[in-house]
Amino acid sequence: MPKYPALRMRRLRRTAALRRLVRETRVSVDDLILPLFVVPGSGVRRPVASMPGVAQTSVDEAVRDAAEAAELGIPAVLLFGVPESKDEVGSEGYAEDGVVQRAVAAIKKAAPDLVVITDVCLCEYTSHGHCGVIRDGVVDNDATLELLARQALSHAAAGADMVAPSDMMDGRVGVIRSALDAEGFADVAILSYAAKFASAFYGPFREAAESAPQFGDRRGYQMDPANGLEALREVQLDIEEGADIVMVKPALAYLDVVWRVKEATGYPVCAYHVSGEYAAVKAAAAQGWLDEDRAMKEILTSIKRAGADLIVTYWAREFARGAASSD
Ligand code: PBG
Repeated sequence: MPKYPALRMRRLRRTAALRRLVRETRVSVDDLILPLFVVPGSGVRRPVASMPGVAQTSVDEAVRDAAEAAELGIPAVLLFGVPESKDEVGSEGYAEDGVVQRAVAAIKKAAPDLVVITDVCLCEYTSHGHCGVIRDGVVDNDATLELLARQALSHAAAGADMVAPSDMMDGRVGVIRSALDAEGFADVAILSYAAKFASAFYGPFREAAESAPQFGDRRGYQMDPANGLEALREVQLDIEEGADIVMVKPALAYLDVVWRVKEATGYPVCAYHVSGEYAAVKAAAAQGWLDEDRAMKEILTSIKRAGADLIVTYWAREFARGAASSD
């Protein structure tokens, strides 16, 4: 490399057009997945206080949001369900007429080309708010697997293109893959929350999904934030069990993990920019402490630069609306 003054790094930073020419990373609407929270009823649109711009919606309103997303060019939505009633085993999670099952069918009808992904987990459906069934005060891994498979099957039967297990039970990807294949859903893909960390950044989501654990916490199944090599093993296992896309979650505090997963596997990697990461920027912006639009673009770009191919983000629609202005 030549040295200063022959080399001046600032030469290519002078104008917006020059910067565009040498830009290495671009976020496209094509990369984004929009999460939606579906609740019972009709005509319901209940804003989530801790997540400005996000609402709990009934099926009819979720269809409107999904159709709008499709029109904006967003390729996929990720559905979460908040059921009418909760019980010990989360049986609403696999009910044929559950909110997610109805939303999947209605969205596929209104916007057939939109990829519909469903979150598969028990925490939104259990009275205790844990991601699996409780035996003797702890989440029982193996007893949970069958319920997860049942939920995934009901989503596939409703027309889901992809199921996304987010529970962090051991062996669930394999069990779900076998169940889908056995029931004629070999083409339904699995997006596994492979490296999901026990994070402080899920707080606002638990308000949106009404899924906060009623006792204890999720550290017995979600990963220790300190562990990067373990994340690689989690990802490897899910791939061996049949995951088509692997996810790292949250995003910003784990960009090193995103990078390592991409390098190690070459698989499609998804990063989830989670509720708390989104809420933090929204709150600061509301105070006038930072520029939300610039922060959004910088954050999404950094996730992409770290190696993510797909990004789950509550900003998907805002980004799509402003995507033409790249600077
Ligand atoms: C668990 C689940 C969680 C999120 C999605 N699925 C978190 C949790 O409560 O452990 C978090 C998403 C977010 O914070 O945006 N089923």
